[in-house]
Amino acid sequence: MTQAPALIPSHVPADRIVDIDIYVPPGLEAHGFHKAWSDLSAQHPAVVWTPRNEGHWIALGGPALFDVQSDPERFSSRIIVLPKSVGEMHGLIPTTIDPPEHRPYRQLLNAHLNPGAIRGAAESIRATAVELIEGFAARGHCDFTAEYAQQFPIRVFMALVGIDASEAPKIRHWAECMTRPGMDMTFDEAKAVFFDYVGPLVDERLHTPGDDMISAMLHADLGEGRRLTRDEALSIVTQVLIAGLDTVVNVLGFIMHELAQNPALRADLQQRGADLTPVVHELFRRFGLVTIAREVRHEIADFHGVTLKAGDMIAIPTQVHGLDPRVNADPLVIDTTRNRPRHSTFGSGPHMCPGQELARKEVAITLEEWLRRIPDFTIGPDSDLSPVPGIVGALRRVELVWPT
Ligand code: HEM
Repeated sequence: MTQAPALIPSHVPADRIVDIDIYVPPGLEAHGFHKAWSDLSAQHPAVVWTPRNEGHWIALGGPALFDVQSDPERFSSRIIVLPKSVGEMHGLIPTTIDPPEHRPYRQLLNAHLNPGAIRGAAESIRATAVELIEGFAARGHCDFTAEYAQQFPIRVFMALVGIDASEAPKIRHWAECMTRPGMDMTFDEAKAVFFDYVGPLVDERLHTPGDDMISAMLHADLGEGRRLTRDEALSIVTQVLIAGLDTVVNVLGFIMHELAQNPALRADLQQRGADLTPVVHELFRRFGLVTIAREVRHEIADFHGVTLKAGDMIAIPTQVHGLDPRVNADPLVIDTTRNRPRHSTFGSGPHMCPGQELARKEVAITLEEWLRRIPDFTIGPDSDLSPVPGIVGALRRVELVWPT
């Protein structure tokens, strides 16, 4: 993720050139992650070009962003990370495979993350949430980021993939090296370390399958009796670990930071009681956080007013769809009565997040169990609310305090 400005190609019109580093967008420090992106979406045309990160387009309008994600015929997933030279090294399954080859891999994931499977896991997910919250409720404060957000989804996810939860911090660190600038390993170094770790884990499960998701994927039939090769297995397991470890952690931080400052929203949630599903949809609209990209396959003469050339990269900051004022009125307001909040927090099209049901369930259970035990809380003095730059938006540390 370099800062060196790239040359401006001749097909980029002057009125579409902006200076936006997608990992540290203007306004990030001053206004926070979501207001910064909402302002950029409101202030600029639907598609702009930045010389940052080797030069690329950005879909800043909600409909343009949706079009890019939903149309693999025109926008390839071959490279989904910027800058392009770093994204070339990504190559993980299934994120960097286009349809139709993408489909069998995707079916493997859907088989374990579909709504029925997640309903089946709900009670154990709830038990994990209750255990963590009851561990600090009587104390009157907690480092929410370290003591809950970095524990809860990771314990749930590690149980699903059959890896001991104590392994999570190092795996998460490697995942961060692949998704954040300025870490102690480069993208390809972290990928190599990941593969070295995942190799024995895959071999063990190939030999002696357990009842976990990785074992099931390794032994599943991809069609006509074909199984994942060892290389495919390394790639898909690494991708699932990266995708499952950093996202829910950070969305929980944003949501609880908001709730701590918004007593009316807390009261609204408490009054709703058990069914928080519509509220959770609105919260995911408001707190999208993943910035990825696509590569243009063929020249497109007119895409929202500009010509795109084959090989051009276009960033898709998924958070801008839900935060575009032309898509959702007053997008920064959390309106739990909003009629069908529209967003791309989980993407759209063939790569739409297979973990979304799990993510929604984890957030709903957190809110239910937290508010039952800790109805009123505010931001604590030891918080560090500075935004963390990277592919996944994040707040550094949210401390919460409450009366006991
Ligand atoms: C806050 C929670 C989450 C958010 C916001 C999120 C967001 C996303 C987005 C935007 C994509 C689309 C990527 C693309 O179009 O290239 C995606 C894909 C993916 N997500 Fe999630 N995700 C979340 C949680 C999870 C969880 C919990 C898991 C695992 C259990 C997971 C596993 C995956 C995988 C494997 C893919 C790749 C799918 C494919 O390429 O077909 N995600 N996610």
